[in-house]
Amino acid sequence: MTIQWFPGHMTRARRQIQDKLKLIDIVIELLDARVPISSRNPMIDEILRDKPRLIVLNKSDLADSRTTEQWIAAFAEEGHACLAVDSSTGTRVNEIPVRARAILHAMIERQIAKGINPRAVRGLIVGIPNVGKSTLINRLAGRNIAATGDRPGVTKGQQWIKAGTELELLDTPGILWPKFEDQLVGYRLAMTGAIREQVLNVEDIAFFAVKVLVKRYWATVAERFGIDQPPKDMEDADEIIRVMEDIGRKRGCLVSGGRVDLEKTSGIILREMRAGKLGRISLEAPEDR
Ligand code: G4P
Repeated sequence: MTIQWFPGHMTRARRQIQDKLKLIDIVIELLDARVPISSRNPMIDEILRDKPRLIVLNKSDLADSRTTEQWIAAFAEEGHACLAVDSSTGTRVNEIPVRARAILHAMIERQIAKGINPRAVRGLIVGIPNVGKSTLINRLAGRNIAATGDRPGVTKGQQWIKAGTELELLDTPGILWPKFEDQLVGYRLAMTGAIREQVLNVEDIAFFAVKVLVKRYWATVAERFGIDQPPKDMEDADEIIRVMEDIGRKRGCLVSGGRVDLEKTSGIILREMRAGKLGRISLEAPEDR
């Protein structure tokens, strides 16, 4: 993530979104399907208030589909319509206009009752940096138009982008900040590659990754790295480090004296996880909330 979010940026980002809300009928809140908690803005409910909303879980191609289904059900329980897509290939992206219209059904019916010809539904995509806003806009538009700029201060004239005949989008998405107060959020976003590694210590990121991986996907981890001793206690940091060392030994990451090079091991774990070598991984499930 390249944005430095200072209080002034957050206030400006918030105001920009609130100004845009006046122009649109529905917000498309984009989350990363692998980390729906950590990729969510902490003030989203306050910012959007009662604006109709469709939650879209993006990058669902990288997440574990069973957990994604659980998320969809959990959001539905809270009264939010939710859909999982893959913007990189366009899978299920064409359901977004249909779902948006369904949410706004009552408004559309009222227009018809008044004899007004219903216009295309107007939407705004919002989300934290790197969640896939520009990729989704381009997909929905069927061409490359969205500015990939991720500076919260960027202003330019508003333009509507047609996503088929039923939905129009504001061309600049609303950029929101993640929840910084929670350190774990930073590490989870770093695991997905949304925060650049230089900002956080690679061994710490890998530690948190292994902690989640062994808990949720031990069989996959064991098979991929050829290890067979699960941690005796999932909450014991020494045991997590021991698993990392087992992986390092298997991968030949040794320094003098036969000690494991944890930094090198951490790099391997994160690279393979992000490259999908461990399969589809969800780092957060609804019960983690
Ligand atoms: P943003 O506007 O919200 O900041 O995000 P952006 O669209 O720039 O997407 C961030 C990264 O996420 C891009 O990868 C993009 O290709 C990738 N991405 C977006 N949607 C999906 C998805 O549904 N599935 C997968 N697997 N990836 C997705 P990048 O590494 O920055 O660039 P590149 O690898 O595409 O060159």
